[in-house]
Amino acid sequence: MTVKVGIDKIGFYTPNLYLDMVDLAHARGADPAKYQVGIGQSKQAVIPPTQDVVTMAANAAAQILTPTIKTQIAMVLFGTESGIDNSKATAVYLAHLLELSPQTRAVELKQACYGATAGLQLAADYVRVHPQAKVLVIGADIARYGLRTAGEVTQGGGAVAMLVAANPQILELEATSSYHTADVMDFWRPTYRTEALVDGKYSTNVYLDFFAAVWADYQRQTKLTIADFAAFTFHLPFTKMGRKGLRQILPTATPEHQAQLTAAFEASQADNRDVGNLYTGSLYLSFLSLLRHGHLQAGQRIGFFSYGSGAEGEFFSGLIQPNYRQGFDDAGLTDLLANRRAVSVAEYEQLYNQQLSSDGQDMQLAVGQEQAPYYLAGRQHEQRVYRRQ
Ligand code: CAA
Repeated sequence: MTVKVGIDKIGFYTPNLYLDMVDLAHARGADPAKYQVGIGQSKQAVIPPTQDVVTMAANAAAQILTPTIKTQIAMVLFGTESGIDNSKATAVYLAHLLELSPQTRAVELKQACYGATAGLQLAADYVRVHPQAKVLVIGADIARYGLRTAGEVTQGGGAVAMLVAANPQILELEATSSYHTADVMDFWRPTYRTEALVDGKYSTNVYLDFFAAVWADYQRQTKLTIADFAAFTFHLPFTKMGRKGLRQILPTATPEHQAQLTAAFEASQADNRDVGNLYTGSLYLSFLSLLRHGHLQAGQRIGFFSYGSGAEGEFFSGLIQPNYRQGFDDAGLTDLLANRRAVSVAEYEQLYNQQLSSDGQDMQLAVGQEQAPYYLAGRQHEQRVYRRQ
């Protein structure tokens, strides 16, 4: 008998600061409707210097780990494109901060916004062979395009932590998936740059082309059609992007089903609209948003489109499990998002420029405002100093 494998628990963390897109539009001389409707974003997470991808991942993972689960974790697979070291994996720092067993395999995965999907699929295959094991999969990033750039409205940041296990509470992953790779220069960040280079319009076209390709191949492989799906979730660099993806396939559904899929999409973009781009974590925040705001039933099939510029696309699917609501802390996530503080554009710009300097000097960060369990206190002897409170 084949064992069911999939997502057992999901945690999410984003810092307690955000920028309102109406304020950003006014400061940039843009019509607020362009940002809110044309791009589809209401708020954008602002990441203080005391949070990086490691601390955000630790804050997300801490929500779903118990002492017993920690002893069962065989691997940590950390998807990120805004890592903190060109050699050492963020997963190793994370395993240490979370006090996981030394008998843990810990690596970082990079392919733009696709890294966490690679982690999820590798984790599922591992658990299919080792059903007693659990794998911690992370998608954590800080999306930076630069002040006053076209991409500025599509920034954000945060971390999603997923526990992959046998007999999962939330979602059984189905084995068939369709993937597609092509060497495309739509978005990249050479090692000497802190902000990405992007051909914005081109990247949106490549995203849609990849979605068409993998969706067609998935249908060919499985003989499933749009009628077999209760919802489609998308990588959401900004919510309009997923809306365009859905519109591409919607005409193939019946009018009644079109309305259901559209309602499910609205649920799946609600939290992303208030956080912004998480790069690798965006698709999984969108799935979490669907779990929180949608009206799902056990057995329903959900489609996932993952896209990482450069470029890699994948379409896969999973089945909602009966106790899915027990796999995440709905009230805690509502509080996390509701209790954030709005920053002015001036404060956002100041925080934007306050990263750890690139000269390797020792420094102490102002940690007085930091409320998260895990945070970055500074740098000593060229090593990041992490703290837990
Ligand atoms: N009211 C309502 N809507 C308005 C408006 C107004 N006053 N003014 C403009 N709009 C609409 C436009 O009609 C347009 O809508 P459609 O796309 O549906 O036609 C939308 O607002 C955006 O307008 P523009 O195309 O003029 O916007 P822009 O030139 O400022 O660029 C962008 C938009 C290309 C997405 C830019 O923000 C960008 O480069 N973002 C980063 C790249 C990105 O996210 N690419 C996504 C695919 S790559 C990926 O997914 C990986 C990743 O995470 C990076």
